[in-house]
Amino acid sequence: MLGNLMAWIDARFPATKMWEDHMSKYYAPKNFNFWYFFGFIAMLVLVLQIVTGIILTMHYKPDAELAFASVEYIMRDVPWGWLIRYLHSTGASFFFVVVYLHMFRGLLYGSYKKPRELVWLFGMFLYLALMAEAFMGYLLPWGQMSFWGAQVIISLFGAVPFVGEELALWIRGDFVVADATLNRFFAFHVIAVPFVLVGLVVAHIIALHEVGSNNPDGVEIKKHKDENGIPLDGIPFFPYIVMKDIIAIIVFMFVFALVVFYAPEMGGWFLEHANFIPADALKTPEHIAPLWYFAPFYAILRAVPSIAGSAFPGVAAMGLSIVFLFLLPWLDRSPVKSIRYRGPYFKIALTLFTISFVILAFLGTQPVTPLYTFLSRLFSFIYFAFFILMPFYTKFDKDKPVPERVTTK
Ligand code: HEM
Repeated sequence: MLGNLMAWIDARFPATKMWEDHMSKYYAPKNFNFWYFFGFIAMLVLVLQIVTGIILTMHYKPDAELAFASVEYIMRDVPWGWLIRYLHSTGASFFFVVVYLHMFRGLLYGSYKKPRELVWLFGMFLYLALMAEAFMGYLLPWGQMSFWGAQVIISLFGAVPFVGEELALWIRGDFVVADATLNRFFAFHVIAVPFVLVGLVVAHIIALHEVGSNNPDGVEIKKHKDENGIPLDGIPFFPYIVMKDIIAIIVFMFVFALVVFYAPEMGGWFLEHANFIPADALKTPEHIAPLWYFAPFYAILRAVPSIAGSAFPGVAAMGLSIVFLFLLPWLDRSPVKSIRYRGPYFKIALTLFTISFVILAFLGTQPVTPLYTFLSRLFSFIYFAFFILMPFYTKFDKDKPVPERVTTK
């Protein structure tokens, strides 16, 4: 009966074909390691955010008069509301942890290089959409940091030459962050951006399955196929990779649960202390700081001095710091993909870049002091040097010979 039902469906919808193309007959490299878990985990976290988000929306009130109290009501009165809210707020930070590790894997193994440039670009658009989603979500609890954080970031648009002030006004919908801002951010956060995220994930995976996954050796498994056209170093995605990913997901859920139950606010790193005070347009918090995942870019923004009172140079530097990430596939001129066979220049550059990114994240959450400003400038300089010098050090690097087939390490 089941066979008949499948045949009936297949005559009308390519269910079996899709299953085979993307699961049971999609061949993934057999040497995937730890770093290859995070794409699957990112998809899980996206689903978790959508499901918990829908439940939160049932109780939340997108109104400047009611929003803060409705979140408190969720935390105290709604059955299991505290859990749903903490899953969502902690989930946001975990999403970024997972996505940063996922992106770092791309750098380690040159996954952005030909023929995966579009996989990388879709990934970068996902990253932008994720940042927009998190930024708008943070306004919704209408706490002090929601309000003042949005005030600072939207005002940055005011630094754009000629149209800046108009642009900031258009985004806010009022002269200061207000009810109009809250309403539009709510609409974008619960409907528009999640749609974009899901659409981009689909595009990301379609592009990936078109070219096939890279792997820790950075060799193309499609180059060596058996007589049936199956890559010799490939294994079917289902059940083998799915099984591995399920183990990773169990471990991830365990770590996630530990944080959700024992440190959901992570001492102010995942939900800032000032956000437990209702928004007050007349009282600026002593220290306005972004959450950790925006902090490296905020540090770059503050590192660049204003010119004639205009913050434009800082805003431009912040924008450029993301634009360079988009350009990676074309900046890297090494014929080698994986870090295993790269020469010393790239290894040193990537190490310095990673250290700079982490230190900038710390600096972006701290108040301004002369020492911190100096350090922000130093590490911003290294951040940009990584990209600007990349065409040179990757071209002249002393890369090692790459094996023909994957190694089983
Ligand atoms: C919501 C966010 C994202 C989701 C759900 C997602 C999902 C996935 C999945 C399931 C894979 C295949 C499994 C794996 O290789 O881990 C993958 C691969 C990949 N992703 Fe993402 N991704 C996301 C964001 C990003 C971002 C922000 C980037 C980089 C800018 C990126 C770049 C890549 C690349 C280059 C690959 C191919 C890696 C390789 O074959 O070595 N992704 N992604």
